[in-house]
Amino acid sequence: MRVMVIGSGGREHALAWKIAQSRLVSDVICVPGNGGMEGDYECLKADISDLPSLADIAASHRIDLVVVGPEAPLVEGIADVFWEKGIAVFGPSKQAAILEGSKYFAKELMMQNNIPTGRAKMFDSYGDAKQYIESLEPPIVVKADGLAAGKGVTVAQTRDEALKALEKCMAEKVFGASGDRVLVEEFLSGEEVSILTLSDGKNVVHMVPSQDHKRAYDGDAGPNTGGMGAYSPVPALTEEMEKDIQSRIMEATINAMAIRGNPYTGVLYGGLILTDEGLKVLEFNVRFGDPEAQAVLPRLESDLLEALIMGVEGRLAECRLSWSPRFCVCVVVASGGYPEIYETGFPISGLKAASSDSNVLIFHAGTKREDGKIFTAGGRVLNVVGLGSDFEEARGIAYEAVKMINFEGMHYRTDIGYRALLALQE
Ligand code: GLY
Repeated sequence: MRVMVIGSGGREHALAWKIAQSRLVSDVICVPGNGGMEGDYECLKADISDLPSLADIAASHRIDLVVVGPEAPLVEGIADVFWEKGIAVFGPSKQAAILEGSKYFAKELMMQNNIPTGRAKMFDSYGDAKQYIESLEPPIVVKADGLAAGKGVTVAQTRDEALKALEKCMAEKVFGASGDRVLVEEFLSGEEVSILTLSDGKNVVHMVPSQDHKRAYDGDAGPNTGGMGAYSPVPALTEEMEKDIQSRIMEATINAMAIRGNPYTGVLYGGLILTDEGLKVLEFNVRFGDPEAQAVLPRLESDLLEALIMGVEGRLAECRLSWSPRFCVCVVVASGGYPEIYETGFPISGLKAASSDSNVLIFHAGTKREDGKIFTAGGRVLNVVGLGSDFEEARGIAYEAVKMINFEGMHYRTDIGYRALLALQE
């Protein structure tokens, strides 16, 4: 089977790596891939927002299954365009990808189906939203309705900050049409957890939980990023809580989509928070998490490709995933200045030494390959993953490997998994 992986981040490198281990795969072709993926798989340079051209490329390369990494092509309808050409895609239709494409839609669906989530009000008028924010006590969460490259959510500590976020969305239109509507939400605090659920529209299989670290700096300080590191399993989550998430949140959402005549096929990512009032949904995404996939897929013992095929063929009822009990810690190594202004083009050293330990995996993200050498090419550059028989061992292995890597301005958090350590000490 010839599989195409679309995207260029650490998540896509981890997906390609896991799919390449399948007994069913003959070739893995990545579009466009990154410096690391180019070393391991065939990579094709193409514009992943040009869906008809991408479908032509897939057809001419006789691709049997397409796995889509990022949300933007899914929300734009890549699955519909490819299926129309007879090319199978593991990912939701445009109509189902609205679960990530519109926070308004997702919130409404949750509210109508008693799926626990933060209280929110939706606005399509700037004046009404402003008036409402002026009546609230901070912290206040302001969310652009549509996709905003991970920048559409502001957790404002003051009313002024919330009003500025609103102005950016609805008056300055910095996110274009994505900011035509906003949600103003209550602030939720607690331990965050991410769940990835494979769905064929009716049947589901849940993956193991993981926890991301969204802030740029140690101690969860600084601006939000795409994710600075992740780990799995999550000691703060009990088995009972996990079952509850699976049935009351993930399965309830997938059932609600089916009842609306909008069945959800693909992976559904639940971004959840354990509040004093119980578990609540922060957001749904219609793809694997990044860097969650890099901490979850190394623990998967089953054949991922086989599960994805069952997903597109409506056979997930037959699927059982088995998981390694080992702990997995992923540290994201970023360019200095990320998520704001950063420079790229710096040579990266130490990759070979860092990956010499068989308990280390390195998934590339913002890298490029020139004359066999690897250079930085993005904000999040590398994902350094350590596997160990306990949490501290996995974390130690990941950080030992990180210390062998070097490039100008390199930045990483030194406290990935600190919450897990706290939970294990309790
Ligand atoms: N790690 C957050 C995300 O994938 O959206």
